[in-house]
Formats: sequence, C-alpha cells, structure tokens
Amino acid sequence: MKKQIQIEERIKKFDKVIEVSGDKSISIRCVLLASQAIGKSKIYNLLESQDVINALKSIKKLGIKYKKFKKYYEISGYGLAGYNTKKKIQINAGNSGTLARLIMGLLIDAKKEVTIVGDNSLSRRDFSRVTEPLTCFGANIISKKKKLPVNIRGSDFLRPINYEEKIGSAQCKSAVMLAALKTPGITKINAKKSRNHTELLFKEIGIPINVKSYLNHDYIELRGLINFKSFNYIVPGDISSCAFFIVLTLLGNNSKLKIKNININSSRTGIIKILNKMNAKIKYLNKRKYKGEQVADILVKSKKNLIGINCPRNLNSSAIDEFLVIFLVAAKAKGISVFKNLGELNKKESPRLNIAINFLRKIGIKVKRKNDDIKIYGKPNLILDGNYSIKNFRKDHRVLMMSCVAALTFGGKWRISDSDSINTSFPTFFHIINKLGANIN
Ligand code: S3P
Repeated sequence: MKKQIQIEERIKKFDKVIEVSGDKSISIRCVLLASQAIGKSKIYNLLESQDVINALKSIKKLGIKYKKFKKYYEISGYGLAGYNTKKKIQINAGNSGTLARLIMGLLIDAKKEVTIVGDNSLSRRDFSRVTEPLTCFGANIISKKKKLPVNIRGSDFLRPINYEEKIGSAQCKSAVMLAALKTPGITKINAKKSRNHTELLFKEIGIPINVKSYLNHDYIELRGLINFKSFNYIVPGDISSCAFFIVLTLLGNNSKLKIKNININSSRTGIIKILNKMNAKIKYLNKRKYKGEQVADILVKSKKNLIGINCPRNLNSSAIDEFLVIFLVAAKAKGISVFKNLGELNKKESPRLNIAINFLRKIGIKVKRKNDDIKIYGKPNLILDGNYSIKNFRKDHRVLMMSCVAALTFGGKWRISDSDSINTSFPTFFHIINKLGANIN
C-alpha cells in the first residue's frame, strides 16, 4: 500500500456480508486487565492494530509475558502487584490516548519512575484530565504544560478518592477505575455517561464493583486491592470501524451490506440512532448478549431520501468517534442538520471538528459554526467532479477513512495522504473496502 492513495471512481452497487476486526476499546482494556490478573488469560479476536500492539509492548516492558497463538493471545499476569517497576521504564503509547490514560491508572503504585511518551499527535493532547485525579490518590506525577511526557511514580500511601467526572470521558473514568484497583478502601466515581466497557469487564471477571445508572450519569463504587483471576474473552467487532462501511453503503447506489458480530452496547450506538433519525432504517439482526455486552449483526441498505437532523446532545458521547462520517450523511441529506456541543471532537487524534468543517466546505457544502455548534446545509444531489487533495496533517486514522468514504460516494479525483495511519485502528480497512468493489492500492 502506497502512502498516498488515489481514488478516481465511485463505488458500484454491492450486496455483501463482511466482518470487521475486534473492538479497540475492549481490546486495550482486555490486555491491561489480563496483565493484572492472576494466571493465563486468553483473548480471542484481539484487534491487531498499532494501538493494541503498543498496549502489548507496554505490558511487556512492565514484565508481563504474552504469546500469540493462531486464534488468541495468551497473557500471563501475576496479580495486582505483578508489574516489575523496580527500575526506571519508558512506555510508548504511540497514537493511543486510551492506552496512555488507562495505563497511568495502573501505574499509581509504580516503585520507580515510569515515563509515558507518545507520537506527535498524542504529545499535543491534554493529560491533566487524568493526571489531576490520579494525583489525588497520592501518586507522584510530573508533566510539562499538561502534555506528554508524563512521569509517574507511585506512593506507599495511596488513598481512595471521590471523583466527579464531568466531561463524559470513558478514558478518564477508566483511568480512575484502574487506579482504584491499586488503592485500599472504596473509590467513589460520579461520571457523566460514556462508554461502559470497563465497568462490564470488571463485573465479568469478578472485580467487586457497584454501578448505579441514572439518566445522564453513573455512580460507581469500587473496593481496591482485591486480586482477580485470569479470564477468557472473545472481543466483538468494533462499531467505530463498522461506521465507515455503514455510511459507504447508505450513501451508495442500491447496495446492501450485512456486518456480522458487532458490539452494539448502547453507549456506542449513537451513530445508528442518529442515522435512523435521518431515515436510514439500519437494522440489528441476531441480537445476543456476550459477557454483559450486546452483540448483533447490522443490516444497512442504500437510501435516497435521507433527512437533516437536529442532533440530540445526549447522543454526542455514544457517537463521539463517528461524527466525521455522520457529517458526510448530513452533507447528502435534505435540509439542515444541527450538531451542538462538539468541542470534545477537537481534542481527539486531530482537531476533528475544525478538520470536518474545512473538509465539507472544500467539497462545496455550506457549514455555519458558532463556537462548538455547527449547521450543515445538505445537498441531496451532491456529485463531485473536481480534484481533491487531502493532506492528513496529523495522520488521523479516522480522517483518512472518512476521506475514502467521501471519495467513493461523492465522486471526483482524490489524492489522500498518509494511508499508513490506517494501522492505528483498522489494518484491514483497505482489504474490506476492495472486497466491496473499490480498487484502492
Ligand atoms: C475511548 C474513549 C473515547 C474515544 C476513544 C476511545 C475509550 O475517548 O474517543 O476513541 O476506549 O475509552 P474519551 O474518553 O476521551 O471521550
């Protein structure tokens, strides 16, 4: 695969069944929790993307062994005190905010200093949102200007905290939950709603946790210093990867796609709720439960009469990684779509709100912005025939995939840079998209 790809043709009609790789959030959580369990855990269908490989490399640096078998990864943990932090260590989280933030939680009892570093994109992101609560546990944390590198050294006098999570960030909530595992006493968390994979995994592997769910927030109580046993887990497909194919099909020409075995946890399905409000008629088939998570096959068909949406803000968190492609649907829908309170998008791997607005304007879509709210003026007959060059300046994997979907559905001649950024989350993206009839190489 060349670093710069060219797309010069719209995708033709297709009728296919596909599977996407394992969920990134769940994969990283499984690796980290298995590394602190007692015994050998087996993780099937682990996503083999760079973010997850960096998670495996990180636990290895901390003295944890893992082995790759044909169908699963085996991770051998030695319990909560099992990390070897007797010497100074550097951990490279690469592009992954989830890995960097969650592993910090597990390092609040490190004997010597552990330094967390990351790539250019990660090094621009704010880490105070996790270092502040972790410092309250008693850990010693140093970072310059709230950014990486973060140096973290534990304390023998860790104490539980009462934490108010106000952003709706699962990474912050989970970092504090993992820190609570290392801390005597009961940690109490009041968190604005966000993805709840950590809570479900804790319950599943026998970590004592109490969760009370309310309309807009969850109240969590966790008792620390209780060891837990190894576990087996089959990671379901990632709805965030699936999102690109859902939109490709929806905006395509008379096409139909079934995507098998996808995690449809309601804290992740904002995209389905939003697109169905826009008249998409996406269906779940074969719904089932797996270890507390909801899993289903997703059926989507091309749709001509999509309509604009006044997007309810309470869906923002459950669609947070999917807005780039949701905006493409808004660009093709009849009427004006309104999205509010999207400031968090600018705090991702790249400033995605700014990037999306520039992108839509470049392809001739009117967008009005007021602070973190935007209005997209849809053009149901949008067909492009110009030349478009996308410089993906922060190598954001999701900007790359969104650009490919736009090129394959709207037409025009496209040059898109940094196709290797795909490896962050979805190494098989091009393989699947070519299976649907594209010709990207
Ligand atoms: C993630 C949480 C979200 C999401 C990210 C993965 C996680 O980030 O955008 O891709 O696995 O917990 P925030 O918690 O910062 O919203």
